[in-house]
Order: sequence, then C-alpha cells, then structure tokens
Amino acid sequence: MKSSLEDTLISAIRNIPDYPKPGIMFRDITTLLGNARAYRRAIDELVHPYAGSKIDKIAGIEARGFILGGAMAHQLSSGFIPIRKKGKLPHETVRVAYSLEYGLDEMEMHKDAVVPGEKVILVDDLIATGGTAEGAVKLLRQMGADIVAACFVIDLPELGGRAKLEALDVPVRTLVAFE
Ligand code: PRP
Ligand code: ADE
Repeated sequence: MKSSLEDTLISAIRNIPDYPKPGIMFRDITTLLGNARAYRRAIDELVHPYAGSKIDKIAGIEARGFILGGAMAHQLSSGFIPIRKKGKLPHETVRVAYSLEYGLDEMEMHKDAVVPGEKVILVDDLIATGGTAEGAVKLLRQMGADIVAACFVIDLPELGGRAKLEALDVPVRTLVAFE
C-alpha cells in the first residue's frame, strides 16, 4: 500500500505520453511544483534524514534539480552547486559526456565549486537510466566531493539507474516509483 506522501506526490505528477520522443512516458513535475502542499512535502521529505547533520553543499542537476536543490539548500543551510548543460558556466569547468533515457549530452561544473572533502548531496527530479546522475557523480568526485547521497523525487526502476549509482557506492533515496 502506498503512503499518504506517495499518494500526494503521485497524484501531483502529470504523465505525458510520447514526449519528448515516441515511446517515452514523460513524468512532468511542473504540476507538483505548482501545488504548494506537494512541493513542500517533497522538499521536507528530501531533507528529513539530514536535519541536524552538516551538509556543505547541495548539487542540483539542470534544470529541475535546481528547483528542488535550491529549496533543500535553504532548509539545510547548505551552499548550492549548479551542474549545468555544456556552455552555460562562465568560469573554468570540468566536463563529462553522458547518455540518458532519450539522448546524449554533456554537463559541466565549475572547478572551484567544491572544496575537497566537502559533504555534498546530489539532487534531481528523476532517475531513469542513471546516466545523468552518474555523470554528475563523476564531476563531483573529480573535484574531491564526499557524496553523502543522491536524492530524486521519482524513480523509474525498470531503467536501472538506482543500481548504477549504488554500484558507485552512492546511497540513493527516491520518494516515488513508476513501474
Ligand atoms: C531529465 C531528468 C534527469 C534525467 C534523467 O532531464 O531531469 O536529469 O532526464 O534521465 P537518466 O536517468 O536516464 O539520465 P533532461 O535531460 O530531460 O533535462 P532538463 O531537466 O534540462 O529538461
Ligand atoms: N528523464 C528521463 N526519462 C524521463 C521521463 N520518463 N520523464 C521525465 N524525465 C525523464
């Protein structure tokens, strides 16, 4: 049986068939973000295990990880690291190529965004194949981050992303799953 939190979040997420490509069921969190109660509950649940611990920074993956990560950083009194699609960051960067459920891309992070040894939580709205999150883990570790966990609102378990991150010794937390 699903918890009331899961029910709240699942009913706030909009499902769009065949977007951005035929055969993809797109899980759209803009409706969750527009629902004040669901947005607050998601953020409260994402930060809950870390209340009272020192988390130096939240790293959010462009674009939807920014919206969740900014709110989490505020609640945990942490800094925020933007992990961006290539060509968007103005200072010296580290870059990695990655693949996701429906394409290939490259992402970057500023080289000075992490002080080696800092405790960082990675966040995004959704994990599917895990290619995007794996790329972000590589960037953060390259600059010496200690990744405490990777958090997502949505898991698509059939696509194997959680296992991919766990194989890299990254603890994974997700709030709801769509089979
Ligand atoms: C979506 C989602 C994750 C990624 C997950 O982002 O927000 O970042 O896909 O897929 P994966 O686990 O298969 O790698 P998208 O690339 O659509 O970018 P956007 O947030 O900029 O729209
Ligand atoms: N990123 C990768 N797969 C996705 C999906 N099915 N819905 C939303 N974002 C995604």
